[in-house]
Amino acid sequence: MKIAIIGAGNLGKSIAKGLIEKHAIDSLYLTKRNLSSLSDLESAKNVVLTTKNSDAVQNVDIIFLAVQPRHLEGILKEIQSDLKENHLIISTITGYSIPKMESVLGSDKMIVRAMPNTAIAVGKSMTCICSNEKGKSKIETAKSIFNSVGTTIEIPESQMQAATVVCASGIAFWMRLIRATTQAAIQLGFDAKEAQELAMYTSEGAASLLITNGNHPEQEIDKVTTPKGCTIEGLNEMEHKGMSSSLIQGMVASFQKINNIKKEQI
Ligand SMILES: NC(=O)c1ccc[n+]([C@@H]2O[C@H](COP(=O)([O-])OP(=O)(O)OC[C@H]3O[C@@H](n4cnc5c(N)ncnc54)[C@H](OP(=O)(O)O)[C@@H]3O)[C@@H](O)[C@H]2O)c1
Repeated sequence: MKIAIIGAGNLGKSIAKGLIEKHAIDSLYLTKRNLSSLSDLESAKNVVLTTKNSDAVQNVDIIFLAVQPRHLEGILKEIQSDLKENHLIISTITGYSIPKMESVLGSDKMIVRAMPNTAIAVGKSMTCICSNEKGKSKIETAKSIFNSVGTTIEIPESQMQAATVVCASGIAFWMRLIRATTQAAIQLGFDAKEAQELAMYTSEGAASLLITNGNHPEQEIDKVTTPKGCTIEGLNEMEHKGMSSSLIQGMVASFQKINNIKKEQI
């Protein structure tokens, strides 16, 4: 596959690293106005770094758009004349709808909208995708790219904002949970490095149990909560302090914010 990533910043570079790691590319063009932050990829096989978006588009079949929303319209206009019928355009831009992209590019272009997260750099992104009518024929291609660097589900475009909160912002939410667990482990006597290892691998194990067994979390909780035991004591104390409630309220607040940002952009 010949792929370009327009805007190889935090997310774009993570996507690039994931694709390189999984050998999922024949050639990969990475664009930015200032290329210095990509110097570590300079010598990577089949990778071209360029400031020229048009050059990248002309040399590939699949174009990832990973710039900040405010830069997108200018870039779409810049590359419009280089776009061919067989180009697949995959946008990761938060809050920028497919109809809005079609209003610039036309509805005859194959457009997929994707919401990955930064775990794409280590092949573990939960990515939600949807497409325009024309892009439906390429949705499996888009899925196979994202499946090579994680897990993909197809959702209606109307759920894209919610997916952004759960999956993209979700990385930050889970980092805080892991950090809090680490802090508790230090207080319980582990040194900082050990504490983080305990927190990271325990959370990985918990998620893996659900992924592997397909169980509801409460089934796994039942297995470790002895009546009158220490686990249920701790768990109930966390719930008295509002653990589930604060997580839910935080995610709903994020969702309200993302919807307000979208209104401001319209
Ligand atoms: N970070 C995430 O976890 C995440 C997850 C899902 C979706 N998203 C979405 O993905 C997009 C990128 O997010 P990000 O966090 O990666 O932002 P970012 O780090 O700011 O990356 C955007 C990059 O675009 C480059 N850029 C700006 N103008 C350009 C131009 N004319 N041509 C080529 N490149 C240009 C910038 O580099 P130069 O200034 O050097 O050009 C910058 O490095 C956003 O729309 C965001 O909403 C992010």
